Amino acid sequence: MASLPLFSLETWILLITFICLFVAYGSWTHGVHEKMGIPGPKPRMYLGSINRFNKVYYIDDKECAQMYGRVWGTYELRRPMLAVMEPDMLRSILVKECFNYFTNRRDLRLNGDLYDIVSIAEDDQWRRIRNIFTPNFTSGRIKEMFGIMKHHSRKLIDKLRPKVDNNEVVEVKSFFGPYGMDVMASCSMGVDMDSINNPSHPLLAHASNLFNISIPLFLLQGCFPFIIPLLKLLGVSLIQKSSSAFFRTVVEKVRAERNESSPQRDILQHLVNSKTVDDSREEKQKEGLNEHEIISQISILLMAGYETTASALMFLAYNMARNPEIMKRLQKEIDSTFPNKGSVQYEALMQMEYLDAVVNESLRLYPPIARIDRVAKETIKIKDITILKDMVVLVPVYALHHDPELWPEPEEFKPERFSKENKQSITPYTYLPFGVGPRNCLGMRFALVILKLGLVEVLQNYSFSICEETEIPLQMSPSGLLGPLRPIKLKLVTRSIASENVECN
Ligand code: HEM
Repeated sequence: MASLPLFSLETWILLITFICLFVAYGSWTHGVHEKMGIPGPKPRMYLGSINRFNKVYYIDDKECAQMYGRVWGTYELRRPMLAVMEPDMLRSILVKECFNYFTNRRDLRLNGDLYDIVSIAEDDQWRRIRNIFTPNFTSGRIKEMFGIMKHHSRKLIDKLRPKVDNNEVVEVKSFFGPYGMDVMASCSMGVDMDSINNPSHPLLAHASNLFNISIPLFLLQGCFPFIIPLLKLLGVSLIQKSSSAFFRTVVEKVRAERNESSPQRDILQHLVNSKTVDDSREEKQKEGLNEHEIISQISILLMAGYETTASALMFLAYNMARNPEIMKRLQKEIDSTFPNKGSVQYEALMQMEYLDAVVNESLRLYPPIARIDRVAKETIKIKDITILKDMVVLVPVYALHHDPELWPEPEEFKPERFSKENKQSITPYTYLPFGVGPRNCLGMRFALVILKLGLVEVLQNYSFSICEETEIPLQMSPSGLLGPLRPIKLKLVTRSIASENVECN
């Protein structure tokens, strides 16, 4: 007590007022859900309900769903969010009558130079970019790109061969990641990056790095959003600036080497062809993309495609290694569709039913994007629940995919859930690896072809198997997209169809 007079009375009053305000500000917004009668984990000052039950955010979602049901209130730091797993509400928000109120994703506003990528763009700008982009991903266009994809899947097989011959342990992501990246770079801008033969290619490092958001910065902008304009002014970005700059430079270089009337048929050229003649005329701007937007979209294709396809392929390999009977059945389908390791054909590939079921089930168990979100433009009532203007609606995809009422034995890998007969009984809007509705994954079809082709070519030649270094069960990473904490390691063995046939008899 003797030290109390250290400051004057005024200073003490100011200090105490400041502490009271600081404490009150940290919980100011935390009563919103309670007032509306929406259950949820109790928030902590400033931190909100982040990782209340598990430090892996998507496992935390699963545990919240078990405790609070299919709709609960949560707080990301100070920001109230409504987690929704109720199928009718999801239909309304993501697809049907309320989509116009939920057109946009949450924008953390510190996007640096990538402020105009399609996934961040809002309303009319988003519609314009998406409309120009979409024709690149029709079945017809993907079929045209199939030859390029096959070129890269063959390189993947060749690259794996010495590892298999030497019976080496393989870190699967370091093969599948570059395969996806090379496909993406070739199809989007006609350049063979050959990252599969150059594992230290900066493209891969930057693609992985991009969404490694700085935690202190995330906390700062979330707790004190009023400083965001200042951070923006200072050029601070949540997206790694060095990585986004690297992608821009790569795309700009390719772009600079082309003229408007290049005969190339890749995505870049399609976007360039949509470019308005005179960017300064407002009515023209509504039709095409400006130069900055073009470079941004190609950059996001490379970035959005890399981590997601690498993660999906890595988990497919893991599921195959852990379920050899399922893998054998898939190999049987592959062998009968493309006898004698025959060349993979687009139509036949897309008609393979068991392959489709295996891929779907793997994406159910391990959806690379474990959460999606939308923001309410207006206050709106859906199924007796009022969603306030600016509230973020969070769709916990991982929790939805692991809900035992929707998916009996949810942790088991069971492709038959997606068989022709069974898939009719899947509740709509409960399987969302690519999201759903007008704002779903733009690259869905393209990604599925990359996954299926890569898996089929590998399984034509090799079988996956677990080894001492394979982690079972996997410990999941708490940050970034859904993924393991440590790399998945497997072995591959060369297939000899003849000997397998003998075994079968
Ligand atoms: C297995 C691979 C992939 C998965 C699981 C995946 C998943 C997703 C998901 C869940 C979303 C959000 C959807 C929503 O909010 O409803 C999304 C958006 C998006 N994805 Fe993918 N994706 C994959 C691959 C790709 C690829 C290869 C590309 C590019 C060619 C791509 C481009 C995009 C874009 C541009 C968006 C934003 C669309 C918009 O805002 O209109 N994705 N993706």
